[in-house]
Amino acid sequence: MRRALILLSAFLLSTVGAKAGVWETNCAGCHNGMVAPTKSKLLSKFHTKREFMAKVKEMVSKGKMPPGLPYGRAANELFGTKRVIHRPKRIHKKPMAVTSVAAVSDPYARYKKFFKPLPALPPIPADNPLTPEKVKLGKMLYYDPRLSRSKLISCNTCHNLALGGDDNQKTSLGDHWRTGGRNAPTTLNSGFLRVQFWDGRAPTLEEQAKGPLQAHVEMNSTPEIVVRRLKAIPEYVELFKKAFPGEKDPVTFENVVKAIAAFERTLNTPNSPFQRYLLGETNALSKEQKEGMALFVKYGCIACHNGPVLSDGRFHKFKWNDDPGRYRVTKNPADKYMFRTPQLLNVAVTAPYFHDGSVNSLEEAVKVMAQKELGKKLSNSEAKKIADFLRSLTGEVPLEARILPQLPGNNPQ
Ligand code: HEC
Ligand code: HEC
Ligand code: HEC
Repeated sequence: MRRALILLSAFLLSTVGAKAGVWETNCAGCHNGMVAPTKSKLLSKFHTKREFMAKVKEMVSKGKMPPGLPYGRAANELFGTKRVIHRPKRIHKKPMAVTSVAAVSDPYARYKKFFKPLPALPPIPADNPLTPEKVKLGKMLYYDPRLSRSKLISCNTCHNLALGGDDNQKTSLGDHWRTGGRNAPTTLNSGFLRVQFWDGRAPTLEEQAKGPLQAHVEMNSTPEIVVRRLKAIPEYVELFKKAFPGEKDPVTFENVVKAIAAFERTLNTPNSPFQRYLLGETNALSKEQKEGMALFVKYGCIACHNGPVLSDGRFHKFKWNDDPGRYRVTKNPADKYMFRTPQLLNVAVTAPYFHDGSVNSLEEAVKVMAQKELGKKLSNSEAKKIADFLRSLTGEVPLEARILPQLPGNNPQ
């Protein structure tokens, strides 16, 4: 009993100590003032936990919010709780009511400290604040194929938000069915990446978006075409005015990419089984997945795949084919075959893998990594456990982002 209590308090302290709270990790992604009301709005509307929870139940039953989120714990966080879990003395009185025996005896809990929960939003640059008007416009532009020369290809063609934010192709088909030779990474959680593209050639999402709009193998457009077509649609001109208030001539290429980037910063996927596990839901992972997590740490995958999206944002050597990676950007021989570590969130739904999309199975990708990056040969069962762990990183794409927007105008020249 004593031992159980000590373990219990250690467990509680370790989870209570985790910085990002339930609200930040599970609710704030949607409750950002665009999809659903912000925390402060809710706190001024609801005064008791009971009122709050009644409304939550209603919203869940109406299908506005997913079932199974830790609503109760979020409510405790927002309205306070009588359950004082910081003081071991109180715990003595009511030890087992607080958490289950399974939680106490999770031998894998010590691996949690190597990981970071996903914050609700990535860093927002000072020169491109997130506003509901801008995100709304950015979403329309993301889905609008008229930004491409052929008027057929949108960002969503290759970064399909119903398919995990990518196209599940080896390499993407762009204008005139040309391919660019590289696999499309997901746009989900892309705001958390330190640099964009496999070779890191764009520092920000704003700079990144200029690439596909103009690339021959992607949308093959020009800033002039984009601006001309948008200006020909009066509803778009109005939306730009609202998104960029105070600007005389807001329909510019710079503002197009700012709006798209703002929208992309809302494409975050909270509430994966692994996120829930990190925040204390011990049974959110299976035993195999926990073993996979432990192997991921022990074998050193974590050395490169770390931080909230499991990418260090740095470049590492991966000699795989003729693609020289970072060298194409810097022409520095030391950068030959260097690629930026990709994120691993939602990796289970973004096959095929690697910069050329040459590997279809997640188990196989894990084995390749262990061999090439760590010089280890994994057994099938180890690779399967790690892959199963990676499958627990699939989160929820915000509902609002997945609903097709109504686009204005019809056929601008
Ligand atoms: C997938 C997106 C999403 C997530 C995640 C989410 N919500 Fe919501 N929530 C909504 C939507 C959409 C509404 C409805 C907004 C409306 O109709 O005005 C809503 C409404 C609510 C309301 C009622 C608001 C009102 O003004 O009546 C409460 C309370 C609430 N959510 C609490 C939470 C809590 C607590 C969490 C985290 C555990 C959470 N939500 C997570 C999307 C979400
Ligand atoms: C024809 C397919 C195609 C279209 C259309 C396309 N992309 Fe991409 N996207 C790709 C490919 C392929 C890459 C990887 C290229 C590379 O790294 O060299 C990529 C990379 C990215 C990345 C970097 C993600 C990371 O992990 O580094 C982001 C963000 C992105 N695209 C957003 C967009 C946006 C926004 C649009 C619309 C303006 C768009 N893409 C249009 C195929 C496409
Ligand atoms: C030395 C740094 C490093 C280590 C260690 C490392 N990785 Fe990677 N990982 C990378 C880089 C860089 C890539 C991108 C390779 C490319 O260009 O396709 C990558 C790609 C991946 C991919 C493919 C992602 C995608 O979307 O295509 C998976 C899955 C992966 N790693 C898992 C692991 C696992 C599991 C381990 C441990 C066994 C591991 N990695 C160890 C750097 C590393």
